[in-house]
Amino acid sequence: MAEGFSLEGWLAAQKARVEALLANRLERLRAQTPPRLFEAMGYSLLDGGKRLRPVLCLAFAEAVSGQTGGGGAVAEDAACALEYVHTYSLVHDDLPAMDDDALRRGRPTNHKVYGEALAILAGDALLTEAFALAAGGSEPVRAALVLELARGAGAAGMVGGQVLDIAEDRPAALDYLTRLHRLKTGALIRAACRMGAVAGGGGARELEIADRYGDAVGLAFQIADDVLDVTATAAELGKPTGADAAAGRFTYPAVVGLERARQLAQEEISRALSAVKPLEPGDGPLAALARYAVERTV
Ligand code: IPE
Ligand code: IPE
Ligand code: MG
Ligand code: MG
Ligand code: MG
Repeated sequence: MAEGFSLEGWLAAQKARVEALLANRLERLRAQTPPRLFEAMGYSLLDGGKRLRPVLCLAFAEAVSGQTGGGGAVAEDAACALEYVHTYSLVHDDLPAMDDDALRRGRPTNHKVYGEALAILAGDALLTEAFALAAGGSEPVRAALVLELARGAGAAGMVGGQVLDIAEDRPAALDYLTRLHRLKTGALIRAACRMGAVAGGGGARELEIADRYGDAVGLAFQIADDVLDVTATAAELGKPTGADAAAGRFTYPAVVGLERARQLAQEEISRALSAVKPLEPGDGPLAALARYAVERTV
């Protein structure tokens, strides 16, 4: 990859590609889905978000295969499946029983529009359809993708992390917080990288690189999310700020202070950059995405 890779234009193109893929995959469900459910799923899935997980997945598939569009439809289905799972996690995360938030991606949260019951069911449907997407084809590699997705999203991954986040008896210790962030956000981002490597035809070496990079970027991404909750405005983020403190959430700025939180996120990014060097010797999309995970303002 050429020196001085510029993320902005590339990322906009990747996002547009993901938007089109998501609209296409969701459309396939329209005919058999109750219209109100279909609408609630589309409300949260389409036209919003940074699409970081699908972009990471596609970028790893390209880097590992060495080809533009590497991994083909398998990588594209994996990318969409990741965004389905991520979107379900946001819909449920915003529910009154969890963070009780009213704003997401610049719009009222799903339950504010469709009611709690349909929001729960729209989340359930997105989660379930994610696995249908990942598994839906004859390529043998899809079984490995399903397993990666389940591990990233499940009890020892994102859901486990969400449980650590709401635990009332949690210790106010940095190692607990780090584990929490690695799970609630890191696990799915790590899965995105690993799934891209698998879809791109990678072996053990490439999976290991994706794993180390994804773990570091995932942790840094959630530290940055905590920092932005303190430093940004709701208009910038499209979701409420100050919400963590209001909900009594356990965050990096609360435990180590804002400056140290930023430093720790940067240290994770340095780790990600050295992990990915053998796969991407120049300054390419994966290095740029790692930096973006913490330098973003949204
Ligand atoms: C928000 O994720 C929830 C976290 C896991 C930090 P994103 O910041 O990726 O949200 P969108 O998809 O861009 O809206
Ligand atoms: C959510 O973390 C992580 C998920 C798995 C959804 P947050 O609760 O901090 O995410 P935001 O700030 O509401 O996006
Ligand atoms: Mg939360
Ligand atoms: Mg939340
Ligand atoms: Mg947050």
